[in-house]
Amino acid sequence: MKFFIDTANLDEIKEAHALGILAGVTTNPSLVAKEGVDFHERLREITALVPGSVSAEVIALDAEGMISEGKELAAIAPNITVKVPMTTEGLKAVHAFSELSIKTNVTLVFSATQALLAARAGATYVSPFLGRLDDIGHNGLDLISEIVEIFEIHNIPTEIIAASVRHPVHVNEAARRGAHIATIPFKVIQQLTKHPLTDQGIEKFLADWKERS
Ligand code: E4P
Repeated sequence: MKFFIDTANLDEIKEAHALGILAGVTTNPSLVAKEGVDFHERLREITALVPGSVSAEVIALDAEGMISEGKELAAIAPNITVKVPMTTEGLKAVHAFSELSIKTNVTLVFSATQALLAARAGATYVSPFLGRLDDIGHNGLDLISEIVEIFEIHNIPTEIIAASVRHPVHVNEAARRGAHIATIPFKVIQQLTKHPLTDQGIEKFLADWKERS
């Protein structure tokens, strides 16, 4: 499983990139709004830093509007992936983008059949939202398993991005269940690097080193 970071914050992206683990970035309108920056300018900065896929979401709700926005976004850099919401209009746009060889990430996926539809429309990635399903009393991770199973049975090349990741167990389980990618908030990436026994081990090694004769 590859790691993407789920943020539009440049410092967080730089820090995660320096770890050598970053295969891509996902943004969404809420994350960009939080930064208070020009959307296209921020995308230029991110795509210059990270060579992997950088998802940028369209705002339009109709296919025609999505296609026109998506073309503008895709023109910013070759590693832009156009993020499209999982709607009937979104599917039409995804199909059009696939004919233009523009990569797409279908977002706000909450069922396996939505994922299958998106894949058949030509999506490069689908993003099932784990945390938001957990929030309403469903098991987000089971959705990952279902999509993995269906894509394997039908030999579907669309990659599954575990999204709306809230904690390290989501990441661990998404990897075990066969998600291709997890897009992770910076705070959770930091949590993943830590273990109390690692810290205790370092302290003990240093204490012993100081005591040497
Ligand atoms: C995915 O690409 C989305 O940006 C993201 O994971 C949404 O997560 P949230 O439920 O924490 O907003």
